[in-house]
Amino acid sequence: MSKILGTGIATLDIINQVAHFPHEDEEMRADEQRISRGGNTANTLEVLAQLGNQCHFCGTLADDRDSQVIEQKLSEAGIDTRSCQRISGGHAPTSYVTLNRQNGSRTIVHFRDLPELSADHFLGQAFGDMDWFHFEGRNISATLKMLQHTQSIRVDQPISIEFEKDRPDIDGLLHMGDVLVFSHTFVSGRGFDSAEAFMHHIRNHNDEAMIICPWGDEGAWGMDRDNRPIHSPASPPQQVVDTLGAGDCFNAGLIHALSSGRTLAEALAFSNRLAGTKVGQLGFEGLERVSL
Ligand code: FRU
Repeated sequence: MSKILGTGIATLDIINQVAHFPHEDEEMRADEQRISRGGNTANTLEVLAQLGNQCHFCGTLADDRDSQVIEQKLSEAGIDTRSCQRISGGHAPTSYVTLNRQNGSRTIVHFRDLPELSADHFLGQAFGDMDWFHFEGRNISATLKMLQHTQSIRVDQPISIEFEKDRPDIDGLLHMGDVLVFSHTFVSGRGFDSAEAFMHHIRNHNDEAMIICPWGDEGAWGMDRDNRPIHSPASPPQQVVDTLGAGDCFNAGLIHALSSGRTLAEALAFSNRLAGTKVGQLGFEGLERVSL
């Protein structure tokens, strides 16, 4: 069991399950609607908490009703929100998700007007006793300050950073962190169609970190400090039902396995099993049944 801090956002996800993806200007009814708490780091922490870790979320929370729902759901998942930055007058970040029943794809329209976590707020918290620090690669200039601060206060606890969306100045975070996770969208957006070539490229920016490329049904690649690429095949379910948050779940598996002392190869295999189980079901419930 580790004490894990995650920074990023927590959202309200309004998820419509539909029989097919709508055409533009089509009117259709959803088969079902679910409202759940989302956000990459918050999802990752939810799975980490199921796996027995003590999880702390540091992000912004508004004071509207939806934000109360978000906070309530975080606390039901066992995630500590005491270090969150409270902001009055904004709206909860809301994601409108169309979940296609034919293939489990998730198409998301985001509404965001809540300010991101400020570096000043983060620097004012006492996080020295955490075993692991996880950051979303967003809100770049503030995140850079938070990472620098974390590096200055930690003894030897690992720092992981997720690079999901390419954002201006995000390259400024590449030299920070010990575990860097890059989405397929990020890598292909940089013009790479080979994970191996991309990992060698990132090695020029960070000569120490583990570099990870989770690529869904193609499996996951990783590169340890010895620069040898490892590939771990995917563990696909019989039927893909819901891909929303599959990457967040993969990250939870990675943090859980590595913080439990497993090798990178073992961590990739576990993360694939966890993410594969997740995409075969709706939501994140009961993922502790996947054993390390
Ligand atoms: C899934 C997710 C959703 C959220 C969106 C935020 O990865 O975290 O829960 O709405 O992405 O980008």
